[in-house]
Amino acid sequence: MALTNADYRDMQGLLRYGYGRLTESCFLLLQIDDSVAAAHWLETAPVTTAEEQNPPPTQALQVALTYEGLRSLKISDEVLNGFSAEFISGMSGDENRSRRLGDEGASAPKYWEWGGPGGVPDMVAILYSQPGHLAEWKVTIEDGLAQSGFKLLQCLPTADMCGVEPFGFVDGVSQPRLDWEGKRNVAGDKLSYENVSMLGEFVLGYPNEYGKYTERPMILAQEPGDLPMADDMPGYKDIGRNGTYLVVRQIEQDVRSFWRFIDEQVKQDASKRQDLAEKMVGRQMSGDPLLPTITQSITGVGPETRDIQQNQFTFDGDSDGIRCPFGAHVRRANPRNADYPTGTHGLVARLTRLLGFGRRSMREDMLASTRFHRLLRRGREYGIKLSPDQRFQLPLPGEPPSGLQFACLNANIGRQFEFVQSAWLMNGKFDGLSEESDPLLGNREFVVGYPVDGFSLPVADGVRQQIRDIPRFTTVRGGAYFFLPGMRALRFLARAARV
Ligand code: HEM
Repeated sequence: MALTNADYRDMQGLLRYGYGRLTESCFLLLQIDDSVAAAHWLETAPVTTAEEQNPPPTQALQVALTYEGLRSLKISDEVLNGFSAEFISGMSGDENRSRRLGDEGASAPKYWEWGGPGGVPDMVAILYSQPGHLAEWKVTIEDGLAQSGFKLLQCLPTADMCGVEPFGFVDGVSQPRLDWEGKRNVAGDKLSYENVSMLGEFVLGYPNEYGKYTERPMILAQEPGDLPMADDMPGYKDIGRNGTYLVVRQIEQDVRSFWRFIDEQVKQDASKRQDLAEKMVGRQMSGDPLLPTITQSITGVGPETRDIQQNQFTFDGDSDGIRCPFGAHVRRANPRNADYPTGTHGLVARLTRLLGFGRRSMREDMLASTRFHRLLRRGREYGIKLSPDQRFQLPLPGEPPSGLQFACLNANIGRQFEFVQSAWLMNGKFDGLSEESDPLLGNREFVVGYPVDGFSLPVADGVRQQIRDIPRFTTVRGGAYFFLPGMRALRFLARAARV
């Protein structure tokens, strides 16, 4: 397979950077009222690319469009039909999808503050800035947008909680490492877990973990437009290349109910609260894993050392789920397994597994290989950060809600975000568990007559402890699927809009 050289100049920066130092940020949800004026804004918007800047930028702007937005820009059907079915349908556009994603009960799209029926924005403009500078810059951007045919529907705020999400856990610890230089070889089976992903898992127009290219819109090479050529389709220009899909979900967190429930479970024994909360999340509150890392002895202070210390582990050494329960949020979200269950070595063993024989326990065959289902998370917290004491006090009058503006990038919404969300997080049956869903995200709705509201804690040499009647700790308040185009594709779409 040819080496791929990523074109950072043609990518939006979010693919490469989380903009962690730009601690102030907001998501502007917009509607396009005047497609010609909006297209002009898009053609000249100061969008930040993935090129390395020295010194690093003090502010960054990213833009992404929904299917509705592309339609408002009057992009041709020929181009529109090249986008993925999930993107075209949208996050809330189909009842079956909503059910699979767990968007039911209080999280149903009909209650959403944005993104539900009739409320899908056309575009999101995400602003990142150094502390103290967002407010002024936001006014300038908003003015420019207002004068260019955009109507501001909502501004999703974020809050700098110093890398800690509202329940109190360090967030943003585990991320896949992207193979920017195209060195990864995906030929053959992967018999051990690796944290490196092919670029095509996150950037359209490059080979993915199957060694293939994800479908995306293209036009014939002779058609006008400055676009990259498609690697895999001679004679075609690639509208997807250097772009990706952005999933945004506003998830409100009931911090007090989370900690109160935990307190009840441990019979108000303060020394046991943290342990149970960490078992539900699957990491220590500090961000350290519940299992020893392979290289925990490594010393140093750099971000790479920290990443190794916090991420070089798998769950192989915890096959009973005693240290990290099978149902814990991070074990569901990334089971860290390879193409075959642990201990499957040699051709005969692999063939036996492939044919469905030789299963040692129910658990083993219920997990798909992790490398096809990775997410690049780019979320930000919102609301107020409660101190450990405040978590047990009544809310102050008028206290704003807190939560996560969950955001992730992926090249294939169905195989990545939707699979993780539905098959691993929301599914009542996962990894040998039943009537359980993600302890943080589960909607606790009934499925075929049974509530999905349990959590099992395996105990060494004992009967596993079962927690039941877990209340809902999180509620989805909005969400949408966006296309985050490469720079040339963004300008191309802007020009195509005006014809
Ligand atoms: C309010 C909602 C959520 C909260 C409070 C939350 C919290 C956390 C925390 C504390 C971690 C561990 C630290 C880290 O590795 O960054 C984590 C990891 C993770 N979460 Fe979430 N999360 C939420 C929603 C979601 C959603 C909606 C998804 C996907 C659909 C998701 C996917 C992941 C993944 C993939 C990891 C990394 C697992 C690993 O590689 O070890 N999370 N989350």
